[in-house]
Amino acid sequence: MLKPFLFVSSAILLLAIAPLSAPAGAAPQTGANPVKTTAASQEKAKKLFSQDCAMCHGATGDGKTDLAKDMKLDLTDWTDPKTFAGKSDHDLYDIIRKGKGDKMPAEDASRAKDDEVWSLVTYLRTLAKTPSAAPAPAAAPADAPAPADAPKANN
Ligand code: HEC
Repeated sequence: MLKPFLFVSSAILLLAIAPLSAPAGAAPQTGANPVKTTAASQEKAKKLFSQDCAMCHGATGDGKTDLAKDMKLDLTDWTDPKTFAGKSDHDLYDIIRKGKGDKMPAEDASRAKDDEVWSLVTYLRTLAKTPSAAPAPAAAPADAPAPADAPKANN
């Protein structure tokens, strides 16, 4: 009887990969975000947000979406830094993980890993730091010169 070597080698491969997975740290009770923020983690969070959240909360987080209007959702404006001021990262994590009320769906384990939800929390807070209502630029000077020469038509 032939024993395929494939089985053995894949078992070794699994053993080699196992130690790489991060230890499952318990969620802190302090409300601090245990996940280190990196460009890659925020890139991932942004993608997750646009896939799973933006249809209701809006790409900017202001909650002014057609779907929110249609569903009569009562959404807060996250571009306002005051919105999350009284909430810890842990509060936000719980809301995202478990959902809220009967219209905010839970982002459960099948959709996002723990560290991805923590990264989402960080991402949500960055939405407030860059308010969409940036001050309008000063009016363009009235005496701006007209374009010197118009493109020549072929004559
Ligand atoms: C189907 C629409 C919908 C989707 C999709 C959705 N939400 Fe919500 N979300 C809501 C509604 C409605 C509320 C308000 C619930 C309430 O207060 O009863 C809410 C509330 C929240 C709050 C609390 C806001 C506050 O000011 O307390 C957070 C945080 C939040 N959502 C994050 C997310 C994230 C992150 C995602 C994507 C993973 C997401 N939501 C996807 C509808 C949605």
